[in-house]
Amino acid sequence: MFDVLKVRKDFPMLNGKTMQGKPLIYLDNGATTLKPKVVIESVCDYLSQYSGNAHRGDYDLSHEVDEQYENARMIVKNFINAKKVEEIVFTSGSTDSLNMVAYGYGRTHLTQGDEILITVAEHASNILPWFEVAKETGAIVKYIPLDEKGRLTLENVKNAITEHTKIISIAQVTNVLGHKAPLKDICTYAHEHHITVVCDGAQSVPHQLTDVQDLGVDFLVFSGHKMCGPTGVGVLYGKYDLLCETSPLRLGGGSNSRFNSCGIVTLKNPPYKFEAGTPNIEGVIGLGSAIIYLSHLGMNDIEAYEQELREYCISKMKELDNVEIYNEDSTGAIAFNIKGVFSQDGASLFNSYGIAVRAGQHCAKILDEFLGVTNTLRVSFYFYNTKEEIDQLIEVCKKGDDFLDAFFG
Ligand code: ALA
Repeated sequence: MFDVLKVRKDFPMLNGKTMQGKPLIYLDNGATTLKPKVVIESVCDYLSQYSGNAHRGDYDLSHEVDEQYENARMIVKNFINAKKVEEIVFTSGSTDSLNMVAYGYGRTHLTQGDEILITVAEHASNILPWFEVAKETGAIVKYIPLDEKGRLTLENVKNAITEHTKIISIAQVTNVLGHKAPLKDICTYAHEHHITVVCDGAQSVPHQLTDVQDLGVDFLVFSGHKMCGPTGVGVLYGKYDLLCETSPLRLGGGSNSRFNSCGIVTLKNPPYKFEAGTPNIEGVIGLGSAIIYLSHLGMNDIEAYEQELREYCISKMKELDNVEIYNEDSTGAIAFNIKGVFSQDGASLFNSYGIAVRAGQHCAKILDEFLGVTNTLRVSFYFYNTKEEIDQLIEVCKKGDDFLDAFFG
């Protein structure tokens, strides 16, 4: 197991950054994560030492960029155990990747009356593109019921599937309730019924070991910035045959092998047909560094340590009468409220103590239909958080009882 105090030294933001005059306690890792020096340095190195374009030049500098860019693709391939490096498409993030699947695959594979299964716990990025594709194709978006705790179970998936189901699109770990879906079992069952499974891995891939071949998932998306990488870069993994059947949403330089004045276009094979235009080269290189950094810590150790933090936080919260927890038994973020305090006011209170937490609906705007509350606070940990930080969070929760006095007093 890594030494968390040593690990914290790798993050400039954890060494001197203050908020409201207090040392920063960053507990909004579900939104984005902090960046270690190795990632910052790899981005700076590209920008200052070999900042050429990728896949376009016949000179050494450009070859150097190609090498680093394609090396990052190989790092991602190994990280998620994809079968082929060509199954890794660089995108601008999970949202971009999900839109690419919905419009590039869903739109051409769905017809009138087909069903797309999602849940009410999905992030907007895994709902809105499907609404639009359903409108265009005549397909129907249906919701797999969650169990009483908000979990997605295989049983409920089986019950929701009909002869019309063509696509299941679900988060492996949801961004508010943090429940882990039985993805492997869902994929096995779905494939027996010729259903394609799309997985939003934005909140899972950064926190646990991922093996796409073992899971059997058809498409998996995730974002660099939620796993210590730069913003504006993400991944679309797809089984190679499915990527071949998927249309690119953007066309331009780099994605075609030839075209003529009559409009005849020959696209390149995946992944290049999806990467038109100059890519986010520094982002891709930074993501590669982030993955090497995470792998060095060990994904299983990261998951175990975060679980320990979560259990500690839940046990401390349960000692308080004024805290309502909405997902005690989950694995990801903790959704809670301080009783009688509007969540955004709660977040302001935490802010005044240097603690960053998220408040509101967290882009999961139909989850309130399940939760029965419109807004929650959310704390989400990463491997650099500590129990001492949680102790400070708990001290502020206690003050929430007398919110106005605590805030303005
Ligand atoms: N999707 C990110 C979150 O859940 C922004 O906070």
